[in-house]
Amino acid sequence: MEFKDAMAQRHSVRAFSDKPVSDEVLTELLTTATTAPSWSNTQPYQIAVAKGEVLEDLRETLPPLFDELVALARSSKFKQIKAKLTNDGMPDGDFRPVINYPKELQPRRNATGQQLYELLGIERGDKKGRHEQMRENFRFFNAPVALFVFVHEGLDVYSPLDAGIFLQSLMLAATDAGLGTCAQGALALWRSPLEKHFAIPENYKLLCGLSLGYEADETINRFKPDRAPLEELLIREK
Ligand SMILES: Cc1cc2nc3c(=O)[nH]c(=O)nc-3n(C[C@H](O)[C@H](O)[C@H](O)COP(=O)(O)O)c2cc1C
Repeated sequence: MEFKDAMAQRHSVRAFSDKPVSDEVLTELLTTATTAPSWSNTQPYQIAVAKGEVLEDLRETLPPLFDELVALARSSKFKQIKAKLTNDGMPDGDFRPVINYPKELQPRRNATGQQLYELLGIERGDKKGRHEQMRENFRFFNAPVALFVFVHEGLDVYSPLDAGIFLQSLMLAATDAGLGTCAQGALALWRSPLEKHFAIPENYKLLCGLSLGYEADETINRFKPDRAPLEELLIREK
């Protein structure tokens, strides 16, 4: 595939078919992504690959945690404070989840959410519909493979930066090979369910997840959110 075509065709896939991904294909994609540049070539990230029984276990474990969290967010202030104090029902990921967006970024976030729900016919006040859609994150959108990216805590912001470059390289390699991906910050909410299955070094922090597989022919996969015009991203000269 031409580079520009791969860039244009990559999009977040939020419905995967049942077609499995072979170990050969998976290894090839990951190997291609290891050519990504990184700070002093340190490659300060490690990847946990979940498939088969491990993935099925996570597909069962994570959605109820999400349900519990949403119920907590809708409960009384008293219950929320108690949960925070006891850590009961709270996420145990390594990074603080983004809840309050900066004012200047909020409109872009809102527009993307609105466009998605409009495409799916989920109305503004339809809390249940929105919940069901968000919950699909924790079922990996039916993907046969999920990757969890951990970053070394010792390189400050450069570990997440390098991991981001790695992830985009992987996503483009997957597009080129006819596979779909969805990077998912949502999958960084809980670390403990992963500890059960993977020997994760303590100094590596859970940054992001990624679902991988073959795209299903579903409306949601036709979602193409707008981008901010380039002028909005350029800093003007004084
Ligand atoms: C770091 C990162 C985290 C993301 N987290 C999620 C997520 O948790 N759930 C989801 O459905 N999409 C997630 N996305 C996908 C973005 O919503 C998507 O990239 C953006 O809307 C642009 O759409 P496109 O990828 O189809 O071009 C994430 C993307 C990135 C890069």
